[in-house]
Amino acid sequence: MKPHQRPLQAAVMGAFVLGMAGPAFAQNPCAPKANNPCAAKNPCAASDRIDPKLITRPKGTKLLAGNRAELVREGEKLWNDAKLGNSGLSCNTCHQGGAAFQASFAKPYPHTVGMVRDKAGRKTVQLDEMIQACMVMPMAAKPLGWDSRELAALTAYTANVQKNFKSAKAPANPCAAKNPCAAKANPCAAKNPCAAKK
Ligand code: HEC
Repeated sequence: MKPHQRPLQAAVMGAFVLGMAGPAFAQNPCAPKANNPCAAKNPCAASDRIDPKLITRPKGTKLLAGNRAELVREGEKLWNDAKLGNSGLSCNTCHQGGAAFQASFAKPYPHTVGMVRDKAGRKTVQLDEMIQACMVMPMAAKPLGWDSRELAALTAYTANVQKNFKSAKAPANPCAAKNPCAAKANPCAAKNPCAAKK
């Protein structure tokens, strides 16, 4: 081959290689940089223990006082806000229609909540502390400020949710729970106690 022919040949080969291999490289799902959606942390798998301090109201702190109706209204927005935490879930994602609550929710606070006893070693919690526990665990977030408007608002709204829960007698049917994540906490997962009594 004469030297002056080389550049043309190289250009043709180059185009061939690019044409064939280029798109294949671009679409390689195994490429190290490919975004693996399964690598994301599963917020529902939050099985680790948490520091009880995160959910213990510091002595002397009081929830912000305010117009109750306004707080309830703001609290309802937060309850439905999937951006409140970092798990992409809102409180309502798990608790819609009384789902994911155990019978303990019908009792006045403070009382024992299984998840908090197991993960934080706290025997009993207040309502605001319970909200912080769900902020830290399923919502994968930092606790809200103890004197913040958000915590006061969510606490006011959740107290209403509790009232409705009591009057709806939701605990009677443990299988009504539609918690997408709490596989372990789901009383219906293993044996369905409701199926037998038909
Ligand atoms: C991934 C699902 C999930 C999300 C999201 C979630 N929770 Fe929970 N929550 C649970 C589970 C499961 C329990 C039951 C724990 C138990 O009884 O052991 C619970 C319990 C509670 C309880 C206490 C029930 C009792 O027995 O006193 C309250 C109150 C509560 N959540 C409020 C909230 C609030 C407020 C948010 C949003 C900031 C929220 N939760 C977000 C799963 C969730």
